[in-house]
Amino acid sequence: MRRIKVFDTTLRDGEQSPGVALSPDEKLAIAQQLARLGVDVIEAGFPIASPGDFAAVRRIAAEVKGPTIAALARAMKADIERAAESIEPAAKRRIHTFIATSPVHMEKKLQMSPDEVVEKAVWAVGLARQYTDDVEFSAEDAGRSDPDFLVRIFTEAIKAGATTINIPDTVGYQVPWKFGELVSYIIQNTPGAEGVDWSVHTHDDLGMAVVNSLAAIRAGATQVECTINGIGERAGNASLEEVVMALYTRRDFFEAETAVNTRELYRSSQLVSRLTGMVVPPNKAIVGRNAFAHESGIHQDGVYKARETYEIMNAELVGREAAVMVLGKHSGRHAFKKALAELGYEVADEELKPLFARFKEIADRKRQVTTQDLIALVEDEQTRAPELFKLLDMQVHSGLALTPVATVKIKTPDGEVTEAATGDGPVDAVYKAVSRAVGLSPKLERYRIEATTGGTEALGEVMVRLRQGSVVVTGRGIAPDVVESSARAYLDALNKLVAGVGSRDSISSP
Ligand code: KIV
Ligand code: ZN
Repeated sequence: MRRIKVFDTTLRDGEQSPGVALSPDEKLAIAQQLARLGVDVIEAGFPIASPGDFAAVRRIAAEVKGPTIAALARAMKADIERAAESIEPAAKRRIHTFIATSPVHMEKKLQMSPDEVVEKAVWAVGLARQYTDDVEFSAEDAGRSDPDFLVRIFTEAIKAGATTINIPDTVGYQVPWKFGELVSYIIQNTPGAEGVDWSVHTHDDLGMAVVNSLAAIRAGATQVECTINGIGERAGNASLEEVVMALYTRRDFFEAETAVNTRELYRSSQLVSRLTGMVVPPNKAIVGRNAFAHESGIHQDGVYKARETYEIMNAELVGREAAVMVLGKHSGRHAFKKALAELGYEVADEELKPLFARFKEIADRKRQVTTQDLIALVEDEQTRAPELFKLLDMQVHSGLALTPVATVKIKTPDGEVTEAATGDGPVDAVYKAVSRAVGLSPKLERYRIEATTGGTEALGEVMVRLRQGSVVVTGRGIAPDVVESSARAYLDALNKLVAGVGSRDSISSP
C-alpha cells in the first residue's frame, strides 16, 4: 500500500466559498476536528489577506496538535514573512508558496515572462526555506500550463529547496485521463522527483475534482489537497470524504491508503456545514442525508437479507451511526464529562461549568439528551461570541388569526432593555424586537433551521447570516424551542458584529 498524505484546505480554499465567514473560534473548532480526523496537513489560511486571517492561523498553529500547519503565501516577500510568522508556534510548520504558470496567467495577470516567473519561484522557495524546512511550491493553473514549462519550474523549485511540489488544476479544466498523463509526465521527467512529495489540488468546475485527484494518485501523486464537503472557490475543491472513501473502498485497485480516521468523516462534515452555513445536498456521496438510505422496496428487501447487496461500505465506517448515548436530567457532572470524552471532547474544568449548566437547562426541558444534541451543544458553546447582548427572556404570541407579537428582555452593556414588536411571523417579530433593543438592524441574508435528530423532541438548531455594509457574520443558536433558537442565533451574530469578528468582502484571495 502506498501512503497518500491528505492536505486539508477547508480553512483556506474552502473559506473562499462565496458567503462563508468563519470567526477565529469557528476556525479553531474546525482545525481541532481535522486533527481528530487525522489529516496530515491543515492549510489554516492566507495570513497576508487580513489581520483576522493571520490571527486565526497563529492560534491554530499554537493550539492544534498533530498535523503540520501550513500557511499560504504568494511568491512575495511580505506574504512569505507573514506566513512564517503565523505558523511559528506550530511543532510542524509548512509555507506554501505559489505563482501562476499558464500562458494566460503569466501574460495577462502577472505580466511576466516565463523566465521571470521561474526566477521568482526560485527566489520565493529560497526565502521560505529560511523559515522552515517544509516548503510547498504550487504552479497555479498548472492544468492549463505547458508540461515542459512545468518540468522546468519544478526542477528549479526542487533545487531551491521545495519539499512538496503541487500541481493544481486551478480552474477545473482537466479530465482524468489527461490529468493522470500530465502528472505522470512531470514526475518522470523532473530531476529530483523521487526526493519530494507530489501533490495535486483539483477544482470541481466540470464536476471532476475527485476523479481527477484519484487519477493523479494512480499516476504517482503522493499528496492530495481537498476540503470537507468539497467546499471552495466557485464549484469547490475535491471533497475529502469522497477521495478518502474511494481510496479505502477500492484499495484493491488503488493500492493506496491514508491516515484518516474514517469514523470522524460524518462529524467533520456536519461541523463544517453547520459553521459555514453551506448545506450538504441530501444525495451527496458519503455524507449526504440519503447516502445510506434505501427507498425502493427491492433494495430494502435486499439490504434486510444481506447489507452488501446494495451497500459498498457501511454507515458506521464513516461515523454515521455513532452509538446513541442518552443522558437525562438526572445525569451528573461525571457522566456528562465522560460522555463528552467518549465523543472526543477534552473539556477543561472551567469550560465544563457553563457547558454543564446549559446541559441541565436543556435536560430539564427535554426528556432525553442524545449524542447529536451533545455535539451541537459543545460546538455551540465553543464557537459562541462573547455575550455583550444576552437573551434574558422572551414571549411570543401567534396564531392563525393573530398578528405575531414578540416581547424580549435583553441584557446590554447599558443595562436590561425590554422591547416589543409585531412581525410577519413569530421569528420576524422576535428579530424586530431584538433589533430595537440593541439598536442594530443589519440585513438578514440567510436563515436556516435544522433539527439535531429526528422527532419532535429534537433540539432546533438555527444558523443566520447577517450583513452590515461589507461585513458578514454568521450566528448559531440551539434550544428545544425553535423560536428561542432563532433568537439565540440572531444575538450570537449581533455579538460577533459588535466584536468585529466577521469577514469582509474586500479580502482578495488566490
Ligand atoms: O487553485 C489553486 O491554484 C490554489 C493554489 C493557491 C494552490 O488554490
Ligand atoms: Zn484552489
